[in-house]
Amino acid sequence: MIESTTNELDPPTERPKTRVAVVGCGYWGPNLIRNFNALPNARVAAVCDLQDDRLEHMRGLYPGVKTYTDYGKMLAVEDLDAVVIATPVHTHHPLAKEALLAGKHTLIEKPMASSVAECEELNAIADRENLTLMVGHTFLYSEPIHRITEIISHGDIGEVRYINSQRLNLGLFQQDINVTWDLAPHDLSIILHVMGEMPDCVNCQGNAHVTAGIEDVTNISLNFGDKRFASVQSSWLEPRKVRLMTFVGSRRTIVFDDLEPREKIRIYDVHVDRPPHYDSFAQFHYSYHYGDLYIPHLDQQEPLRVLCDHFLDCIAKGNRPLSCGRKGLELVRILEACSQSLQGRGAPVDLPNGTHADNGTLRRRVERAMVGP
Ligand SMILES: NC(=O)c1ccc[n+]([C@@H]2O[C@H](COP(=O)([O-])OP(=O)(O)OC[C@H]3O[C@@H](n4cnc5c(N)ncnc54)[C@H](O)[C@@H]3O)[C@@H](O)[C@H]2O)c1
Repeated sequence: MIESTTNELDPPTERPKTRVAVVGCGYWGPNLIRNFNALPNARVAAVCDLQDDRLEHMRGLYPGVKTYTDYGKMLAVEDLDAVVIATPVHTHHPLAKEALLAGKHTLIEKPMASSVAECEELNAIADRENLTLMVGHTFLYSEPIHRITEIISHGDIGEVRYINSQRLNLGLFQQDINVTWDLAPHDLSIILHVMGEMPDCVNCQGNAHVTAGIEDVTNISLNFGDKRFASVQSSWLEPRKVRLMTFVGSRRTIVFDDLEPREKIRIYDVHVDRPPHYDSFAQFHYSYHYGDLYIPHLDQQEPLRVLCDHFLDCIAKGNRPLSCGRKGLELVRILEACSQSLQGRGAPVDLPNGTHADNGTLRRRVERAMVGP
């Protein structure tokens, strides 16, 4: 179970089943339906899609589930506690707004909405109505990211110098969003979570080769100050699928390859130091440290199941989710800045001073860990 960001976790208690409806039964929605259906404390009461054939498929898999093409009717007729939205991004805001105004706890797939203004409105309604609002930043619920965050926060790789992330494959081309809005939310959610703070400045370059106006390859740079930065490369044009993140620290480096079936994280005890006193000759004698390679054992759990369970737990206990609406908003703020930078041919876009830290920024957490308690 994932720790939520506010209260301490209470021991698990018997609780009534949360009645959930899932909207959108395309590629991703069925994964959410399968996971909620498998959890003992949830019941998938209804599903909704505009396409009858998708609903028929769901009825085949889950006989007895109520199906709707009319979302408003489903909200009015069914006795629901929560709504889960897995539809195209431009529909997230209107569907989530309707759900929240109908008093339903709401889980929205990433990215939360199409603009910062939309996210702000959804957060305001959820706060006013005292409802759980969560965003599907799936990787935050994965064992590799949990372990990487732990290792970095304990100071085991030293200061993070930079993070490099690549998410590349062929397609699936989206109609309403570019590759940054489609793929980069995964990398960005991990980077923000690990760094524990918002970047000061973002810039993004890219091109639309296949569909006019919809970039299919982009490179994002995020500047966190003090020479720390992150870069994210996203593409729908590469023949080989790549899911690779490198966290380069002052003492060690972590490589996370999500396509590796078991050994997803490798920690390299490798770094380079500058000699303490150097002159024009000694500068050629940098000290290279080659140590061991460590591959930690990771529990195999489906991250989406952990995410769904966390949503139910936050509803039951009134806790703020790890990927709450505020985190969804911060991520969309970065995506918006990327779009602005793309329009300005990669010009840097400054971001307002944000507060993303759960336990203080990474820098403070690492300093504390390296000094000791
Ligand atoms: N967390 C993850 O790892 C992950 C992975 C893939 C997709 N996603 C997200 O899931 C969402 C859906 O993506 P997808 O790939 O499944 O898209 P998709 O196009 O395959 O499916 C979307 C479905 O929503 C339905 N739909 C559209 N508008 C609707 C409406 N107003 N009411 C009811 N149904 C409607 C469509 O008919 C379609 O069946 C997106 O936000 C995407 O970013 C998340």
